[in-house]
Formats: sequence, structure tokens, C-alpha cells
Amino acid sequence: MEKIPSSEITPEQLYLNRRQFMIVAGSVAAGALLSACGARSETSASPTMPANSGAGSLPKSGSTTDELGGKLTSFDDITHYNNYYEFSVNKEDVAALALNFRTSPWTVQVGGLVNKPRTFTMDDLLRFTQEERIYRLRCVEAWSMVIPWTGFPLSKLLAQVEPQSNAKYVRFETLLDPKQMPGQRDGYFKWPYVDGLRLDEAMHDLTILATGLYGKPLPPQDGAPIRLVVPWKYGFKGVKSIVKIDLVEQMPVSFWMASAPSEYGFYANVNPEVSHPRWSQASERRIGEFSRRKTLMFNGYGDQVASLYQGMDLRKFF
Ligand code: MTE
Repeated sequence: MEKIPSSEITPEQLYLNRRQFMIVAGSVAAGALLSACGARSETSASPTMPANSGAGSLPKSGSTTDELGGKLTSFDDITHYNNYYEFSVNKEDVAALALNFRTSPWTVQVGGLVNKPRTFTMDDLLRFTQEERIYRLRCVEAWSMVIPWTGFPLSKLLAQVEPQSNAKYVRFETLLDPKQMPGQRDGYFKWPYVDGLRLDEAMHDLTILATGLYGKPLPPQDGAPIRLVVPWKYGFKGVKSIVKIDLVEQMPVSFWMASAPSEYGFYANVNPEVSHPRWSQASERRIGEFSRRKTLMFNGYGDQVASLYQGMDLRKFF
């Protein structure tokens, strides 16, 4: 795996030991310390709307590249360079810390503004037809990967619970279990990790719940047993280890909006023209490669998703 000195990408303060960090954090605004992923750089919708069919131009299952010719990132890099604050703020430490994370039994409770609330077991969720989706993952920290996920469109799950007409957003929540997740034992962040989508974004065919990668069950460090993947948004929207999905009327406040409100907004669409307050988003480093590449609007999925944001000022709606 390509070695990236962690100091290059993680704010110095997060490198201090936890005790020191807490003292520093207490006296400095969160936005000055953190980034979603903890680093320095490198319209409401109708619930009856049918799922868009956006996956048409994706590569066929088994391909070794994405549809733009980008090579798949190695399994080793995908599973050893992880953002998962429940375990560690250090990407290289997550895999070892998450090794014994219990992913069975596991249920996902789906409710809120729906006609048929239901708790799904993992067996239920694996009964949805699982397909391979090769997607680019663009972290807000300006690095990227190409990942062959296995999963199923979130729209299929939402159709089963029947969203009500006043449901406008979908809110996702990660497991809260400080015994297993050491990062949840400190009081700095407001756990559990939460994020959300507008209902039409959630219904888009590119939006999946992933249960595996490289044809294997999802490793714990990548969000086992089930995580969200929204390829045109920054990686932090990809909530890991989901236990709860709620259909709601109000826009949810995400983990990162709460942690650093001056730096993160709800939409978080990949946009090379809108800089993060502390770094440019114009280019990115593909993990496993040396030179940087230009970041693509909507992470290269604009043909499929730009219409979702018609009439919105994309500079304003980060
Ligand atoms: N989900 C939870 N529960 N906790 C996290 O810290 N980090 C996010 C996202 N999902 C995160 C999370 C960020 S910042 C990124 S970039 C992606 O997960 C990284 O996914 P990966 O480690 O599988 O590459």
C-alpha cells in the first residue's frame, strides 16, 4: 500500500494524545480542528416517485476498471486506509481495532413517516438481489478510490416500507456501542454518527446499501455488515454499520454538520469549484497512484444526478 504520512492529512491536534486533544478541543472551535474524515487536505421529493435508473452507464460486473477507465483500488488499500471515527481518527489503525467487531446478529430498524415500519434482519437484507457496483469514492479530504461494492439499491428497501407523503428526507444512524467502539468513549463528538439524504436522492438508483466489496462480505473497517454508498457525494455521507433508517419531514443534522458547522453542509455533493474552507477541492489523489487528477463535478456522475439539483445554487448548497 502506498505510504502516506498521516501527518500530511490529519490535523495536528488530532495527533495529540486523546487527553491533550480534549483540552485543546475545549478551547478551540470544532471547525478549526476537524474535517469530516478528520483531516487537512490533501426540493423536496414525492415519496411515490419511482427510482431513477442511473446505473445504465456503469461498468459490467467483474470489470477491473470503472466506466472512466480508472483501475480498481487494491483490496489492501480499501481495507487499511479507513475513516471510521468510532474506532480511530487514524486511518491506518481502524482495521486492527475493528477486527473483532460483532456484526451478527444485526438488525436495521426502518421507520418514521412510513406506512409499514419494519425491522430487517441481515438475512432479510441479503434477500434483496445483490449486484456489483464499481464506484469512485471521493473523500472530502481530496483523496479517492475505485471500489467494487456489492449491494442493492436503497430504493428497493424504501419501497417495502412505503414512505408517507410528508416524508421528505431519510436519516441514517450508526450503531452506538462504546464497549465495542473505542472512539465513542470520548465525549468530544456527539454519537452516534448520523447523516441523511433528500428522499429523491435516496431513491436514485445509484444510491445503494452495500453489504460487500470485492465479492466478499463487507469487512468491519468498511462498515460491516451494511453501509450507505452515494457515489456523487463526499465519502462522509457513506454511513457505516447502519442500525436505523428513518423517513422524516425535516432535514436531518448530520454528524459533521453538528461537529463543524462552518465547514460541512447537508448536500455535500462533490464539486471541484467549491473549496473546503481550508483546502481546494479542484484535484484529488487516487490512493495507489502518485500524480493528482482533476476532480469531476458530481464525482463524474453528473449525467445521472445533475437534474436532482436543477435551480439550486450549488455554491451555496455545499
Ligand atoms: N461512517 C461512520 N459510522 N463513521 C465514520 O467515521 N467516516 C466517513 C464514511 N462513513 C465514517 C463513516 C468518511 S469521512 C469516509 S471518507 C468514508 O466512510 C470512508 O469509507 P472507507 O473507510 O470504507 O473508505
